[in-house]
Amino acid sequence: MQDRHGHRISYLRVSITDRCNERCTYCMPQELQEWLPRADILNYEETLRLIRIAAELGVTKIRVTGGEPLTRRAVVDFLREIPKVPGIRSIGLSTNGTLLGRNLDSGPTMALAVRDAGVQSVNISLDTLDRHIYAQITGRDFHDQVLAGIEAAIEAGFEQIKLNCVLMRARNQDQLVPLIEFAGARNLILRFIELMPVSTTEVLNDENFMSILHAKRAIESRYGNLILEPAFQTNGPATYYQIPGREQRVGFIGAMTNLHFCEDCNKLRLTCDGKLRPCLGSYLEFDIMKPLRAGASDDELRQFFLDVVDRKPLQHDFRENYQPNRKMIAIGG
Ligand SMILES: C[S@@+](CC[C@H](N)C(=O)[O-])C[C@H]1O[C@@H](n2cnc3c(N)ncnc32)[C@H](O)[C@@H]1O
Ligand code: SF4
Repeated sequence: MQDRHGHRISYLRVSITDRCNERCTYCMPQELQEWLPRADILNYEETLRLIRIAAELGVTKIRVTGGEPLTRRAVVDFLREIPKVPGIRSIGLSTNGTLLGRNLDSGPTMALAVRDAGVQSVNISLDTLDRHIYAQITGRDFHDQVLAGIEAAIEAGFEQIKLNCVLMRARNQDQLVPLIEFAGARNLILRFIELMPVSTTEVLNDENFMSILHAKRAIESRYGNLILEPAFQTNGPATYYQIPGREQRVGFIGAMTNLHFCEDCNKLRLTCDGKLRPCLGSYLEFDIMKPLRAGASDDELRQFFLDVVDRKPLQHDFRENYQPNRKMIAIGG
């Protein structure tokens, strides 16, 4: 699949739930959450059919996300089906990490069960090593569980584990170096992400925003000039650097300040309520659940995908005074 701007689509991010056991300030409103009713969420069979159709059109990589994907019932059974879809070569999971260390009834940790189901890479959110700040950011006192989840993921032997840190001037400016040391000691890739206006909450203001350039300068004042690694890519939009004198890599995702951010975009999103979204930072989304549940043929659904890809914008609208209409948690990060 290729759009009119030359983006080749090979990567589908699949959100399987809008529910979450945390309440991150930048992702969702703090007031009482209204979750979508079950009937409005694609069931696993429907989701797998759409993954198969996407794969027939050239998608090779799936990332399962949410909300918190590990809160959904029977998620491991669902994950196990994805590698069976012809054409899918790479499967990733994005998680807040809180449930990775939990032991399942059958004995293994959730991390091991996810790994055994065929997931190769896992992205774990970790904005701070300070548990009080963690609780302020996420609304939950789950820092210990996340740290245990990270260790469980390491033990499970994923091919790749990345830690994702959303940059917030007021909250975690002093955490950049501690997080780098934490990731380095465990041989994990750490990525810093600019705050995006995907939620309506008050944290999304200029005082809180920290650019990747600011973060990079702060890191360089400690470690010396970072060494650009243009050849290192992980399918996503991060730019990677090596820390001088170390094997360690850090990545920067500058959706707001990197003007070339969208040039190599290879992504399409499927929301848990069955919308295909060609770009995170654009209002455009198309309801594929409707034709799916009305009995559309594979051919018709394939055409639906192609039409959505054809509408993929040149770039996101985040710099154009974008007013969020859907919460990040409902779209799937
Ligand atoms: C929406 S979450 C879903 C997966 C999982 N619950 C997690 O937290 O990793 C995916 C990623 O989006 C990031 N995210 C959420 N809201 C964001 C925002 N406003 N700006 C930048 N990143 C955001 C989270 O930090 C997380 O790394
Ligand atoms: S970022 Fe992830 S953990 Fe935090 S509220 Fe959103 S979905 Fe939940």
